[in-house]
Amino acid sequence: MSTILINDVKTTFINTFKTEPILIFSPGRINIIGEHTDYNDGFVFPAAVDKGIAAAMQKSDTNISTAYALDKDSRIEFELDKLRPSAEGSWENYIFGVVAEIQNKNKAVGNFNIVFKGDIPGGAGMSSSAALENSVVFGLNELFNLGLTKHEMILISQKAEHNYVGVKCGIMDQYASMFGIKDNALLLDCRTVESKPYKIDFKDHQLMLINTNVKHSLSDSAYNDRRSACESIAELLGIKALRDATETDLEAIKDKVLPENYQKALYVIQENNRAIRASKAIEANDLETLGTLIFQSHNGLQHQYKVSCDELDFLVDQAKANDHVLGARMMGGGFGGCTINLVSKSEAKAFGEAASIAYKNEFDKACSIYFIKLSEGTHLVK
Ligand code: GLA
Repeated sequence: MSTILINDVKTTFINTFKTEPILIFSPGRINIIGEHTDYNDGFVFPAAVDKGIAAAMQKSDTNISTAYALDKDSRIEFELDKLRPSAEGSWENYIFGVVAEIQNKNKAVGNFNIVFKGDIPGGAGMSSSAALENSVVFGLNELFNLGLTKHEMILISQKAEHNYVGVKCGIMDQYASMFGIKDNALLLDCRTVESKPYKIDFKDHQLMLINTNVKHSLSDSAYNDRRSACESIAELLGIKALRDATETDLEAIKDKVLPENYQKALYVIQENNRAIRASKAIEANDLETLGTLIFQSHNGLQHQYKVSCDELDFLVDQAKANDHVLGARMMGGGFGGCTINLVSKSEAKAFGEAASIAYKNEFDKACSIYFIKLSEGTHLVK
């Protein structure tokens, strides 16, 4: 967690609202494997990281609430009884959505002020949105003694995303951001919403992210389309979610579904299995197998689920061509954002530099390299 971020929001809050705020840090996340499985009730393998959102919050004694996005230097005042979603893509929807979903649970939120700032670039596929939602719900719970459990809080964050942001996301991002454990990744069962922590110490290997610094438009609608395709196939199979299907089940209805949707469902079933196999590989310290599963995951996301893009594929190809990288794949919703790479510690820097040069030559723009630390979930900063 960056103390600079925390100091920035604190100082700005005090200068603006002339009172002492509470301070919250809410992290973004990585995901080792298990992509687009969460809304299929399947398994994912995320971890909270040391980058995220810092928020300063306090009750307001006026009839108005104020949210101040320090990164964008953008401020908005709002009334709590008149909340509606703003235009698509507006940052305030994350805040309005959380407040509205708390109100929907018949919990009384009073007026408040918030200043927030983050160090995850938007569109990186590292869940800056879940980090923001969680910081707001966590802070409001604290300020107004709402008595919400962490499980209730993440469901509020998720609903905010569904109803105010318009993305029908699963629960992975909000869960990882809220429940993260230092040095651990969480094998999360998205049906029970319970996880098992895995201490991550890859000895002479490490995880490294490369951000394509692109986010292709239409990603939100493509995301929602994928989700409804999965749901309709589950319905056809007479099961609650694709998590309950085997490849044999799917084979039996193959001629009843479009070939492209068959491939998508097949991907989900296979990826869910990969997430479980990856956890076993980690337990056995078998990094070769873990890396292979990660490459296979990308292959499925690229060719079957079709949520990758040229920039991501290029970076994964760079990884494949490098003997020191055991696995690489796109991470998060897709259509841009980061690749996650399992790379030898001694060669990580060199690989990052080589990939950056190649990327610049190919796309005439820069990618960014992130070395991350697995960190604690959403918390108060004293
Ligand atoms: C986004 C969503 C998550 C998850 C991933 C894909 O990050 O918010 O719920 O579906 O995409 O795995």
